[in-house]
Amino acid sequence: MIIFQAQDTSSLRELLNLYIECFDNQQHNINILKNYILQSLKNHCVWLAIENNHAVGALMYIKNLEPDLLPASISQNYDLQRCLYISELMVSTKWRGQKIGINLLTSFIQHIDIKIYTDIFIRVWDKNTPALTLYQNMGFTPLTSIEQTKISPDGKSTFVMKKIYFHRKTTGNNEGISF
Ligand SMILES: CC(C)(COP(=O)(O)OP(=O)(O)OC[C@H]1O[C@@H](n2cnc3c(N)ncnc32)[C@H](O)[C@@H]1OP(=O)(O)O)[C@@H](O)C(=O)NCCC(=O)NCCS
Repeated sequence: MIIFQAQDTSSLRELLNLYIECFDNQQHNINILKNYILQSLKNHCVWLAIENNHAVGALMYIKNLEPDLLPASISQNYDLQRCLYISELMVSTKWRGQKIGINLLTSFIQHIDIKIYTDIFIRVWDKNTPALTLYQNMGFTPLTSIEQTKISPDGKSTFVMKKIYFHRKTTGNNEGISF
């Protein structure tokens, strides 16, 4: 297993497949998704976990944040040019529970240029126990939450999804694990 920051766009297809596998409950517009991943790769904002030439995990993030990416209570109180937003953290189903997620997050945090970036944000569904536990173990704390109305899998009824915004400083006591 190797974990590294992608330097080119060659992993686009692998990342696309991984994304679809990890978020298969969402409806994907493949072209929009492809462009989103391609842009992240071009911006060097992707960390990859590779095993036997296959992407088994990835972390994607956003820099130069636009104010509307975050609730006003956050964007008004932070210098967004000094903030990073983790847009995706995903590990292939059969590779879960082997510290790949935490290794990706640790690698990402350890390589942040702390002279530029001071704060990291991430948004998590309040029922996503694996992700909630992982982020809290890594020193993220909840700041605020939003509620979104979604269509149920039956395609008819709706339900309310609560998403929590977590934050941590780029530096701090909890630097994750060493590996
Ligand atoms: C969330 C996700 C990235 C975790 O990846 P992972 O490689 O399985 O996680 P790790 O093995 O690195 O686990 C690290 C820690 O997270 C927590 N964790 C991971 N899976 C967990 C689970 N199923 N239940 C509770 N805690 C869990 C544990 O604290 C774990 O540490 P421990 O093993 O010492 O107890 C993975 O489950 C995933 O890809 N989920 C689907 C996509 C997703 O929801 N991404 C997050 C969107 S915000």
